[in-house]
Amino acid sequence: MARFFTLNTGAKIPSIGLGTWQAEPGVVGEAVVAAVKAGYRHIDCARAYNNEKEIGLALKKLFEDGVVKREDLFITSKLWCSYHAPEDVPEAMNLTLTELQLDYVDLYLIHWPLRVKKGSSISPENFIQLDIPGTWSAMEKLYDAGKARAIGVSNFSSKKLEDLLAVACIPPAVNQVECHPGWQQDKLRSFCQSMGVHLSGYSPLGSPGTPWIKGSNVLANPIVKMIAEKLGKTPAQVALRWGIQKGHSVLPKSTSEVRIKENLNVFDWSIPEDLFSKFSEIEQARLIRGNFAVHPQSIYKSVEDLWDGEI
Ligand code: A2P
Repeated sequence: MARFFTLNTGAKIPSIGLGTWQAEPGVVGEAVVAAVKAGYRHIDCARAYNNEKEIGLALKKLFEDGVVKREDLFITSKLWCSYHAPEDVPEAMNLTLTELQLDYVDLYLIHWPLRVKKGSSISPENFIQLDIPGTWSAMEKLYDAGKARAIGVSNFSSKKLEDLLAVACIPPAVNQVECHPGWQQDKLRSFCQSMGVHLSGYSPLGSPGTPWIKGSNVLANPIVKMIAEKLGKTPAQVALRWGIQKGHSVLPKSTSEVRIKENLNVFDWSIPEDLFSKFSEIEQARLIRGNFAVHPQSIYKSVEDLWDGEI
């Protein structure tokens, strides 16, 4: 089973990446070290997670100690909503590269299809008009300059992705979105597939432990649990294996060495067809609804607007 998927750039993206959203400062560096030592080759970062500096220190140490070479790692980062102006995109990239202590990232994503004034936080008075074509052409320049070896988007609906594909000179390589057995993204998945855009799944375990996330608990889902019991695996392993078997990369976050290792142990077994088909019976609910982007002063008046009805 695929340890990698191939992007439309020809580059290979490792099918498991360590998620670093909500990985607290003080522990995220150790988690990155533990993950790379365990065999992870993909770290999913973002400037908005406020932990790239510590990740950079960990990477530097891993390179210095000869644990891994830069060219064998796949590092993703993301452009935050307050840096969408084309002239601000290279600055955001440079800030990330400086903090990560890298010359390039393997993948740079527009984090959300949402824009606020430079330097401002996400709140209604700061929302400004989106200009994805303008932002994207600045992303293309980073690709041309070799600072981002692939470029893509995150949290884009099929419609937003289609609109971007219509104007892009360099098509996005990845759309990173919420994806797990409780939100399987069937429509977006087939659209991405037909367009050669790789889908990467964040919150692949359903982000248990995030207090404001309401809805189904993926790891406690009876179907996931039943399959885990039948296969002698954990619910987390089953959720991750489902994603890889579906054909997308998965980005489980953990800062526990035991769970980091557990989450990588999904390659030497598979979910047989009769059990795999059971996933279609799982009730679907988007957990990361993006309510922060919805407001009368935002371009999104409703959650339906933000996701163009994919809700
Ligand atoms: P921890 O960091 O303490 O391991 P997601 O990747 O879907 O956002 O989920 C991340 C959450 O799931 C974190 O709270 C993480 O906690 C927890 N988690 C990660 N791996 C496992 C696992 N194998 N079993 C149970 N919980 C896990």
